[in-house]
Amino acid sequence: MKINLANIKKAKKLLYKKECIAIPTETVYGLAGNAYSDQACQKIYKLKKRPKNNPLIVHYLNTQRLKKDCHLNNDFIKLYKKFCPGPLTFILNLKKSSKISKIITNKKNTLAVRFPRHSVTRRLLKILKFPLAAPSANPSSRVSAVTSNHVKEDFGKKIKYILEGGKSSIGVESTIIDLREKPKILRLGGLNVSTIQKILGKKITINNKPSKIVSPGQLKVHYSPGLPIRLNAKNIRQDEAYLLIRKKKVSKPNYYFLSQKGNLKEAAKNLYSTLRKIKKKKYSSIAVCKIPDRGYGKTINDVSGFNFDKNSIKILKKYNIPFVLQHSLGNPDVMQINPKYKNVLLDIYDFFEEKLSNLRQNGIYHNNIILDPGIGFGKNLKHNMTIIKNISIYHSLGLPILLGISRKRFIKDLSGNNDSSLRIGGTISSSIFAMLQGVQMLRVHDVNEVNQATKVFKALMNK
Ligand code: TXA
Ligand code: MG
Repeated sequence: MKINLANIKKAKKLLYKKECIAIPTETVYGLAGNAYSDQACQKIYKLKKRPKNNPLIVHYLNTQRLKKDCHLNNDFIKLYKKFCPGPLTFILNLKKSSKISKIITNKKNTLAVRFPRHSVTRRLLKILKFPLAAPSANPSSRVSAVTSNHVKEDFGKKIKYILEGGKSSIGVESTIIDLREKPKILRLGGLNVSTIQKILGKKITINNKPSKIVSPGQLKVHYSPGLPIRLNAKNIRQDEAYLLIRKKKVSKPNYYFLSQKGNLKEAAKNLYSTLRKIKKKKYSSIAVCKIPDRGYGKTINDVSGFNFDKNSIKILKKYNIPFVLQHSLGNPDVMQINPKYKNVLLDIYDFFEEKLSNLRQNGIYHNNIILDPGIGFGKNLKHNMTIIKNISIYHSLGLPILLGISRKRFIKDLSGNNDSSLRIGGTISSSIFAMLQGVQMLRVHDVNEVNQATKVFKALMNK
């Protein structure tokens, strides 16, 4: 983007006068003011109608000035080197000597900090003697602004100046990571979690739906477009806007697509502008199509324990998603012919141990692995019974255990019922038995029945 120095000077002048202006960033536009000035920060809260207990992100050019305000730690430095400037916000401990306005921090001893990448805002930060407090430039709980026009629409004459920076290239807010102790994601955003995890080389937890709200941006209403939303909608009413990720062959005036070909990055970039367009047209609600769960939300379940296709490891590495490591003996067509073990329990234990060490060598993160001993996969009745009876032995591997016992043949062998759809009783009793041994996940056919059984069982156990 070509930089207009006169605009930057104007922005600087107003900021020195403790005014609040809009600035462009690569994520969304921000409402900025001098982070060291109570007066400027108060103006931001007032303009945005933001609750006083919701702290502001402070934007820095680099770590030079940040060092005066916050304690930096190793995790911060690793991530800073790799991703900054960029769409990542860090929660750090504030220094006692910091000059950051108490209005921003809500008198707490933490600070959210970010290094925006947008060239216009970087040029501005370079000539200021203070960092900029800047929440997203939208009235509280409304959709964020990704162009200067959006800011104008929302604030009109109330805002003194909008520094032009074109359309935000990322289009969704920064990812927020709390680095005070164990790294914890507080808000999903412009930077992918698996990329962050790779650089830190350790487990990070995602806490964007906590029972206790740490970061108010975690509230659902934070991104409300001001209309009711129906997710995963299939049948669209005429008075509804239909929000699609990918352009459809047939289009209607109430269809809005976020990307020509279903590219998720492009879709994110267009999300807020499209929601704004929809809002203007006075629809009664927004129906959102099923969002593809590519990469995230998916779990890989490789029943062969990576024996069928060695390349499946590459997929796990690329997407960093949970996966089920399942034991099976031989190929499906022959595996039930006289399966043999020295000791079925320990042989499977060794299998898990070997595969885990292999995965670790391939840089696969531990917290994504779920163990499944593979009931019925190369096992006779005696084997299956031994495994289910003693399943707790696998807890010592320190990972969640999944059991697929639903409607399996061992139930027929024990009860004589050959029709697999009539094996719900056996499924439920063995599921409860497995839960008593601490099995965390069940793979089932009869979701309602098993769900009801486990709910009742858990309630009884807890009283
Ligand atoms: O991409 C972005 O992050 C944009 C651009 C302008 O930088 N800014 C932004 O700010 O999204 P805002 O205020 O709309 O969202 C920041 C979130 C808020 O939900 C706030 O509660 C949280 O960060 N936050 C701020 N300080 C915090 C702190 N010390 N601890 C935990 N959360 C904090
Ligand atoms: Mg916001």
